[in-house]
Amino acid sequence: MSEKNKTIGILTSGGDCPGLNAAIRGVAKPVVEKYGMKAIGFSDGYRGLMEGNARGLSPDDLSGILTLGGTILGTSRESFKEIQKSPEKIEKMIENYKKFELDCLVVLGGNGTHKTANLLSEKGLNVIGLPKTIDNDLYGTDFTFGFHSAVDIATEIIDRIHSTAQSHGRVMIIEFMGHDAGWLTLYAGIAGGADVILIPEFPYSIDRVIEKLHERQSEGKKFSIIAVAEGAMTLDESKMKSKDYKAYYTSLPFPSMGYKVAAEIAAKTTLELRVTVPGYQQRGGEPSPYDRVLATKFGTYAAQMILDEKYGKMVAIKDNRITAIPLKTVAGKLKLVPRNHSLIKAGRMLNTSFGQPR
Ligand code: F6P
Repeated sequence: MSEKNKTIGILTSGGDCPGLNAAIRGVAKPVVEKYGMKAIGFSDGYRGLMEGNARGLSPDDLSGILTLGGTILGTSRESFKEIQKSPEKIEKMIENYKKFELDCLVVLGGNGTHKTANLLSEKGLNVIGLPKTIDNDLYGTDFTFGFHSAVDIATEIIDRIHSTAQSHGRVMIIEFMGHDAGWLTLYAGIAGGADVILIPEFPYSIDRVIEKLHERQSEGKKFSIIAVAEGAMTLDESKMKSKDYKAYYTSLPFPSMGYKVAAEIAAKTTLELRVTVPGYQQRGGEPSPYDRVLATKFGTYAAQMILDEKYGKMVAIKDNRITAIPLKTVAGKLKLVPRNHSLIKAGRMLNTSFGQPR
């Protein structure tokens, strides 16, 4: 089929992040302006595809969005589990794919998004995925767009907290996003010089954390910085069954992980503690130049895949090369921080504590 008669659909799904609009631009500008195809944007993720809520994307829509935070299409979290057990939702998406006469559907999202993308691909739709999340926990790609912008934001937060920690001689606990994987907390912790970094992959011992804090005191260091991922847990908690842990965690009298760690330290020391939870600031604002470049690389690579009619894959970056891997290889797989990761080794060389039991 000649390019001019092709129509592509685009949707952004799951948690938003800086870089989404840069990625939309990277895909849509070439296909619309260079190859004369039609691009349709579905509103609010898969919900827009289910409801047929879509609009054409013109060159004007794609102008001035490279540096814009969030997503011009809107997003939503349509749980894969819900979709998987609702044939009517799947049918609606396939029906609208056909109704809008799509030749390809481009989805920008994280783990859940790519599970649904793979399901639609297995149903015969031409789907291409672009890896997006501040968590960087998507299997198959070294980096997702949104991650480096969040690292910049989180690092700036640690830098700012450093000065007030120093002034007051306090232990400052900063809680970062990342339920399953600790990439964001690890990168920002190393970049910000945190003394303790607690991530979900390395269940911690609060005694080891306190030991580090006292060690710093004995070295005359008046303050300490603890970077903790929202999904971090103690060794005992890590041994719980997932549903038991969920019930246990919701029963705790703390709004979130940072406060829980503070309470654990307060129960055993007289250290002066303060907690900061930056929350959604980590997903806000404009993309970093790194993410603008990465999102543009991903988007234009996807545009070439559309020209070559190469579907059923997620664009990825591996060893600094842009490539594409089958959706079925990615779907449902997390990329967690390995114990021998270079940043873990670097942290250990710097005597950074990961809260590890002896
Ligand atoms: O997946 C990205 C993420 O920001 C996680 O780090 C965080 O735990 C989650 O989304 C928050 O989800 P929601 O945006 O639905 O509150």
